[in-house]
Amino acid sequence: MIVGILGCGAIANVLIRKIENKEEILIKYFYDRDIEKAENLARVSNGTVVLDFQDMVDNVDLVLESASQSSVKELIPQVLKKGKDVIIMSVGALLDNDFWNEINNISKKTGSKIHIPSGAIAGLDAIKAGSVGEIKKVLLTTRKSPSSLGMNIIEEEILFVGKASEAVKRFPLNINVAATLSIASNLDIDVKILVDPKVDRNIHQVLVEGDFGRVITETENLPCESNPKTSILAAYSAIQLLNGLIEPFNLGT
Ligand SMILES: NC(=O)c1ccc[n+]([C@@H]2O[C@H](COP(=O)([O-])OP(=O)(O)OC[C@H]3O[C@@H](n4cnc5c(N)ncnc54)[C@H](O)[C@@H]3O)[C@@H](O)[C@H]2O)c1
Repeated sequence: MIVGILGCGAIANVLIRKIENKEEILIKYFYDRDIEKAENLARVSNGTVVLDFQDMVDNVDLVLESASQSSVKELIPQVLKKGKDVIIMSVGALLDNDFWNEINNISKKTGSKIHIPSGAIAGLDAIKAGSVGEIKKVLLTTRKSPSSLGMNIIEEEILFVGKASEAVKRFPLNINVAATLSIASNLDIDVKILVDPKVDRNIHQVLVEGDFGRVITETENLPCESNPKTSILAAYSAIQLLNGLIEPFNLGT
């Protein structure tokens, strides 16, 4: 499987350094609007920088997006139209209903697959399974360090209380897990975001109630070195998703 990376920042850097080299997964093409970032990653992995995104699309089996919500909307439809698969990290873009319908329709026509990693949370497997029945409530409480939000405060503050669809617009770089949970549960979930000077990591608590019972998870995420907004676990989850695509067995829901 030949893979191209769209967006060569923190997630892509962790991915390239941690993924095991395998014949079956060849990460070969790199695209970024900041060409230097694409060049840096291409150098590490002996890959190729593309200046025109379409050149990547023509030459890969799968594009891994780790750029931005706007890049998903601008560039991902052309990948799917060519019948190629995608992994999307900027999941917030998918809470736009018109866009969701557009890419689902393209994928149905061309047979391309849209993969969404679990990202920086635990429990997505149980929520997916639970959604076979009735999910009654999902609450994500996210506690972030001031540095991850570019803030300097001395006391805890509540930044946001509302629905996931609103949270991903207000904090497009910070709360992709709210979108992932909404897609998994088929609900516009409840979100609370706090900024807490006492924490040095991004903490996600997820509460789910349904006809199956109740799930509570808490994930204390250490941030990526080059981007305090992004949790290392998000990059690791993309690696495991990629690995899962070539392995003969499928673990979890
Ligand atoms: N799903 C999750 O759990 C999860 C977790 C963390 C981050 N994310 C999201 O993943 C994305 C990448 O995160 P990151 O920490 O690697 O970000 P980053 O800022 O470190 O890197 C993003 C890179 O993409 C490039 N880029 C942005 N828009 C582009 C465009 N339209 N065309 C070409 N290049 C573009 C930037 O120049 C940058 O080099 C972000 O949208 C982030 O919100 C998702």
